[in-house]
Amino acid sequence: MISHHIFLIGFMGAGKSTIAGCLKEMLNMNLIEMDQEIVQKEGMPIAQIFAEKGEEYFRQAETKLLASLSQESPAVVSCGGGAVMREENVTLMKKNGKIVLLTASPETIYLRVKDSQERPVLNGNMNVEYISSLMEKRRPFYEGAADLTISTDQKSPEEISKEIISNLDKALA
Ligand code: S3P
Repeated sequence: MISHHIFLIGFMGAGKSTIAGCLKEMLNMNLIEMDQEIVQKEGMPIAQIFAEKGEEYFRQAETKLLASLSQESPAVVSCGGGAVMREENVTLMKKNGKIVLLTASPETIYLRVKDSQERPVLNGNMNVEYISSLMEKRRPFYEGAADLTISTDQKSPEEISKEIISNLDKALA
């Protein structure tokens, strides 16, 4: 039995939502999709929140949501790709659970997100070079927050999920 949240972090397209769905089944835990929660609460898609209310408003909504999770029973939490950029968010995650970083190469990320209309951060910059440079900027935040890091390149969701679970005891104790 896992008694704390498992926060999945990583760049857009790293596989957080897919793996969160697998872990939910395998560990019989609740699932919280941060992006979906915010979309539901705001009543509009992420791209529209960014366009009408601004990125700062969205980031504030992420922080509020993370703060509210201390009240929830243990869940797999699929975090928005930018959530770790705020120090207070990482503090909240560390207080309420363990943090698993999913990584993938910029090429893999590009293939996974290239047709997405729901990634305003990549609007007008949907290419490997931009993804690679943003990933480098964010790398210290992702790596600094992670309790466990798992590469997802060329692995199936089942393989990745099993790898996380087999490391849960060691890394997430
Ligand atoms: C963002 C990632 C998105 C979403 C928003 C901002 C980011 O989530 O929260 O578009 O800044 O990396 P995913 O990582 O689930 O795509």
